Amino acid sequence: MTQAILTPDTASEAGDGTQIGGQSKKVFVKTYGCQMNVYDSERMGDALTRDGYQTVDTVEAADLVLINTCHIREKAAEKVYSQLGRLAKLKKQRKADGGDLMVAVAGCVAQAEGREIIRRAPVVNVVIGPQTYHRLPEALAKARQGESVVETDFPTEDKFDGLPTTPEKAIRARGVAAFLTVQEGCDKFCTFCVVPYTRGAEVSRPVDRILSEAERLASAGVREITLLGQNVNAWHGKGADDREWGLGELVRRLATIDGIDRIRYTTSHPRDMDDALIEAHRDLPELMPYLHLPVQSGSDRILKAMNRRHTAAEYVKLVERIRAARPDIALSGDFIVGFPGETDADFEDTMQLVREVNYASAFTFKYSIRPGTPGADMDNQVDEAVKTERLARLQDLINEQTRAFGRECVGRTVDLLLEKPGRNTDQLIGRSPWLQPVIVDAKLGKIGDIIRVRITQPGTTGLFAEIAE
Ligand code: 5AD
Ligand code: SF4
Repeated sequence: MTQAILTPDTASEAGDGTQIGGQSKKVFVKTYGCQMNVYDSERMGDALTRDGYQTVDTVEAADLVLINTCHIREKAAEKVYSQLGRLAKLKKQRKADGGDLMVAVAGCVAQAEGREIIRRAPVVNVVIGPQTYHRLPEALAKARQGESVVETDFPTEDKFDGLPTTPEKAIRARGVAAFLTVQEGCDKFCTFCVVPYTRGAEVSRPVDRILSEAERLASAGVREITLLGQNVNAWHGKGADDREWGLGELVRRLATIDGIDRIRYTTSHPRDMDDALIEAHRDLPELMPYLHLPVQSGSDRILKAMNRRHTAAEYVKLVERIRAARPDIALSGDFIVGFPGETDADFEDTMQLVREVNYASAFTFKYSIRPGTPGADMDNQVDEAVKTERLARLQDLINEQTRAFGRECVGRTVDLLLEKPGRNTDQLIGRSPWLQPVIVDAKLGKIGDIIRVRITQPGTTGLFAEIAE
């Protein structure tokens, strides 16, 4: 997913905008990677807005370009350097015209590569990691004095304490479905994954901060929140009753907030799927029947080499327990093909697990060597052509399951949260409880409404529905 996050509308929040050299400061934000990066870009946008920046939606109109990067696979990381190459040319041209351009690189590539980014791409003025971005305005001020700034430590202070709360107008401009980070980092150390190194150790945000952020979102018209964490179901914290809560208890409390009608969370680890969370799925209509629960592989040998700390059978059993609690739950997953040592038989185990579980959707990836992870040093790397062939077979199977799920939904009556205009002006797009985009006639409601509809037909990019009588 790539996306420019900050709309000109949120930018207008800057209002009287601080002036530098007689010009207002203008930032263009480019976000790569996961939902947490989207959330982080919004928060950096809030900090820059307070610092007098307006957001613009082209690089050409900006005097600061902020790239929020992803390091999860090699391709994602390399995109950053091609973008920086284009920016170097633009900066040269600006300088020739008597102007300038500042470039800041944030996110997981910033954390992983640090000063190396400036060595490879001297166009960059600021490198700032995911745990230090509350210091971005300060870093930019230093950079304006001509210093290049690298901020990639894991500070002891909580970055959220150093960030401004999002103004109501900006929340409204971002829509009726919002992200809320509750947990960051990972202590699991799967052998393919950079997250424990780029996002650091597992940290849970305290209950009171999460509740006050959720209340702010609700009072600004947000009706659906997605709780974010690299290991979101490992979240824990001291509840109002002085007991240690897990994610299940937190969701139960969030569901009592007036205005919050729908709750989701992502991404979960099978080992942290405890009874309280499964019971929350059983009991709470606000908790949407959709669960992203990556398994990565269906082979016990590969799961062991990946350090996943569960077997395929344990995963399948867990899915059965979750489905017993909430029979209509839609499952999604992540799969890696071609992990070092993966044989044809291991891959067949993955295909078998997918057939057994039956996913509503899933993300599939070819294994990508990440420097510094144990997988990178394994000597039985799989041939690229084999990975390509396995990926195609797995994708075919999952696409077939996704289409079958869409067909199964036809005739069902569901609540739809209307989120945005459709491609045609007479259409609106909402999300089904199972996260599918659903297209309806714009006359049926307005953005922010939850309407009862009957799914009428599956389409290529979503489902179609009409009002349920
Ligand atoms: N290569 C391929 N895919 C990876 N993922 C994480 N690290 C790698 C890697 N080195 C995938 C996993 C994870 C998702 C976010 O990205 O499937 O769940
Ligand atoms: Fe990476 Fe997820 Fe494994 Fe943590 S649990 S190391 S984030 S794949």
